[in-house]
Amino acid sequence: MTRLPAATYNYSALTPLFSSCCIREPVITQQVAARAAQLQARALEQLSVVSDSEGLEAWRVSYLGRKGEATLLKRSITDVPPESRREFGQAANAVGEALASAFEARQTEIDHPAGDTDAIDVTLPGVPSPIGSIHPITSTVREICAAFGDMGFQVVEGPEVELDHYNFEKLNIPKHHPARDSFNTLWIDKTGEDGQRPMLLRTHTSPMQVRTMEKQDPPVRVIVPGKAYRYEATDATHEWHFSQVEGLAVDKGITFADLKGTLHEFARRLFGENVRVRFRCDYFPFVEPGAEMSIDWSSLSNGAKGAKGRQQEDQKENWLEILGAGMVHPKVLEGVGYDPAVYTGFAFGIGIERIAQLKHGIDDIRLFYSNDVRFLRQF
Ligand code: FA5
Repeated sequence: MTRLPAATYNYSALTPLFSSCCIREPVITQQVAARAAQLQARALEQLSVVSDSEGLEAWRVSYLGRKGEATLLKRSITDVPPESRREFGQAANAVGEALASAFEARQTEIDHPAGDTDAIDVTLPGVPSPIGSIHPITSTVREICAAFGDMGFQVVEGPEVELDHYNFEKLNIPKHHPARDSFNTLWIDKTGEDGQRPMLLRTHTSPMQVRTMEKQDPPVRVIVPGKAYRYEATDATHEWHFSQVEGLAVDKGITFADLKGTLHEFARRLFGENVRVRFRCDYFPFVEPGAEMSIDWSSLSNGAKGAKGRQQEDQKENWLEILGAGMVHPKVLEGVGYDPAVYTGFAFGIGIERIAQLKHGIDDIRLFYSNDVRFLRQF
């Protein structure tokens, strides 16, 4: 503990200055200031040699405590003639404030000496901010768009809240057509003058076939990435909201061979040369003939198997349907003012989550939207 010398300052030594009426005020002020400065210098000198908390406390008591010198100096203002109190008060307060802030600074030095582990080391490397990554569905969409972009397709987008007119009617699915049942539709709760609900959440990206053809003359070669919604139960390969990439090519002389060649080439670009694809007949009112394309999990070099494949390890092939396709129906072409005797075309709708499942070996589609960071951090 640092022992302080007994207080040598006698505050009353200042007050006689004020009791002498013969001393002019500037002289009083100068002397007060000089004595206050002396007190301050002595206190700071003593403080500079204090080296521990006990010494610091002793210093505080003797200068800033209830009976400390700086405190008594301030209190002695009552002995000062009224006309000089302002100057005296300012000088005494300045000493008190200077000593209080010097005390705080010394306390910090004693509590946190250099090299203290709590002290901030500005040379340490910073804490890295976590950086997110691209969602696997977004990166799959980009990959698909790049593959078709290389084959001459242009990317366009359309509305998710769609009219019955485009989602069904213009696609050769009139009211009461049984094919409407396969698109479990989420309707927008707003009725038109005819009492029907004209708006819905699009059940597929196919309405963009019509919207595109209405806007431009052939040749057409577009792809349309976007969300689709269906009121249906979820399982390992079905979500109630999912993503599709629609494709449409219309020109003179386009045949089903172009459809197969384009889609097989797309699969090769995404999954490699050895990917096995399978086309089977399917029915969609807006194409004729219609088909579905599946991919064999077991032909993929990433070793992915899918939920079914895991259950039947010995299975030689294991197909996952990834898209619906077909030759654009003549009624759809007529509906947009294209002459079906001159123009033909093919269209397809790819399920993006299914492609991402195959690419990354994910056996349950619901993982994409469960917001589980343990899953998402893998991408
Ligand atoms: C259609 O949606 C048609 N519009 C596709 C089409 C376009 C046919 C152009 C002909 C011409 P389908 O309902 O089969 O078809 O869906 C197409 C693909 O979307 C499916 O192969 C599947 O990969 C994906 N898909 C469909 N429903 C879901 C769902 N509930 N969850 C996840 N993916 C789905």
